[in-house]
Amino acid sequence: MAAARIAGAATLLSVILPALCAAFSRKLSVELNPGSSSRPPGGDLLHIRALGDNDTLHFLFCSRGAPTLLLVHTNLTSSYVKVNWTLFLSANSSGGLRVEPESGVTGSVALVFTRLLEYRDLNQTGEAAFDAFPPYRLDEVAWSPMTPSGAAARLCGALAGGSVCLDLSAFESEGRAALWPRLLHTANSSQLALRLDGLAARSAGSRFLLELRTLSGAAPLDAVHIRRSIDDEFTPSIFKASEWTSGSDESPAEGRGFVFWKRVAYRRAAPTPEDAVPCRHSEPRPGSGRGSAEVSGLARAFFGADRGDSGLNLSFGLAGEPFYNATAFLSWTVAVGVGRPPADAFSPLVAAVMAAGLGAPLLILLTGGVYVAARKRSASPPGYRPVN
Ligand SMILES: *[C@@H]1O[C@H](CO)[C@@H](O)[C@H](O)[C@H]1NC(C)=O
Ligand SMILES: *[C@@H]1O[C@H](CO)[C@@H](O)[C@H](O)[C@H]1NC(C)=O
Ligand SMILES: *[C@@H]1O[C@H](CO)[C@@H](O)[C@H](O)[C@H]1NC(C)=O
Ligand SMILES: *[C@@H]1O[C@H](CO)[C@@H](O)[C@H](O)[C@H]1NC(C)=O
Ligand SMILES: *[C@@H]1O[C@H](CO)[C@@H](O)[C@H](O)[C@H]1NC(C)=O
Ligand SMILES: *[C@@H]1O[C@H](CO)[C@@H](O)[C@H](O)[C@H]1NC(C)=O
Ligand SMILES: *[C@@H]1O[C@H](CO)[C@@H](O)[C@H](O)[C@H]1NC(C)=O
Ligand SMILES: *[C@@H]1O[C@H](CO)[C@@H](O)[C@H](O)[C@H]1NC(C)=O
Repeated sequence: MAAARIAGAATLLSVILPALCAAFSRKLSVELNPGSSSRPPGGDLLHIRALGDNDTLHFLFCSRGAPTLLLVHTNLTSSYVKVNWTLFLSANSSGGLRVEPESGVTGSVALVFTRLLEYRDLNQTGEAAFDAFPPYRLDEVAWSPMTPSGAAARLCGALAGGSVCLDLSAFESEGRAALWPRLLHTANSSQLALRLDGLAARSAGSRFLLELRTLSGAAPLDAVHIRRSIDDEFTPSIFKASEWTSGSDESPAEGRGFVFWKRVAYRRAAPTPEDAVPCRHSEPRPGSGRGSAEVSGLARAFFGADRGDSGLNLSFGLAGEPFYNATAFLSWTVAVGVGRPPADAFSPLVAAVMAAGLGAPLLILLTGGVYVAARKRSASPPGYRPVN
């Protein structure tokens, strides 16, 4: 009974709530290797154009070198991506990719997957201490050709006897991914899911670190803010999310880029809550940007070689946790966007449960009161009349 009522309320709310906050949406269109008649050597370039009412968001995903996702926001509906393939393909020149007209560009951010580091967690500390193996450079992986399906694309490469894959998705409007950690997304952000499947660990006690770098058209992304996350229903027992962005929270600049993730990875493809792997990050470190420009064709083409970058390491697993070896699988999801990161609100189900939780006792009290009163009345001995 109660369950049915809660479920009923939940479906009702889940129908009403989205309708109430009339969702902002974008029109998506996808092109592979824009302006090129053939598949370029050394990696693909995917362009997802997300058209808003008065603005455009360009998502660019490239496997030329280290996998890179670039977002460029413009306040025009007519902006377009221009690739000079001669420049784009040459090993060390910048300016190969522009979003034009440049006067309309209000913000840009790029995330570069530079390296995967493996270390032996000797003393079960969960720290990358001393026994590190030679890192895997992700710009040296032979990435598979991209085949977009809708506004999504997968990039895979062979690594250490297994595979490393990145799944990119862009979205027309707000929603939540089906895969755990069921990250929230908006029309202004995209998601990338990383999977490390079947890598041959170099020790039985191996853990992995992922090295990431960001570049930005505005101030470098120099801080990671920890946010409380309240959607326990979607990501059981993970209460924190990390937001890598620039400057303080109080007055976010227009077009500010962000990289956002729940502090969890999973050690199985179809996980249960027990398969959660906590993840931590190191403090962002500023870099000259030469590192990014050297490994990422897209970062070099758009930002040039002299744009400062910011890098951090993400570690998967704490002391006492099973090692990578236990399942030989790890998945982690990250959102990249401009503006404000998607914020968790109470979900319809939580709202319904809260409403039911507050409403049900009240109902019980009321019906109980009426029942008791009725019984008292009928049970009163005949001839005995209340005083009033
Ligand atoms: C787009 O611009 C028009 C006209 O300038 C304005 O009326 C409208 O509110 C804008 N829409 C959004 C979503 O900003
Ligand atoms: C591409 O860039 C090169 C070098 O700057 C230039 O010579 C060439 O004309 C450009 N091509 C196009 C199509 O703009
Ligand atoms: C890179 O460009 C610079 C200046 O344009 C040139 O001197 C250098 O030889 C180039 N390096 C390579 C590896 O092409
Ligand atoms: C678009 O952005 C540019 C650069 O920030 C700005 O100069 C321009 O006034 C903006 N245009 C509109 C229509 O908002
Ligand atoms: C790990 O253990 C070894 C031997 O037990 C010890 O010498 C070393 O200092 C420990 N390292 C850390 C980082 O605790
Ligand atoms: C996405 O961007 C558009 C245009 O800048 C803005 O109107 C909208 O509020 C943004 N939506 C979210 C969820 O940030
Ligand atoms: C873990 O890795 C080591 C070294 O690669 C290997 O010898 C061992 O059999 C692996 N253990 C499991 C449970 O797969
Ligand atoms: C990531 O960790 C490795 C090994 O500890 C270190 O060499 C590298 O500088 C770190 N990268 C960043 C961006 O902090």
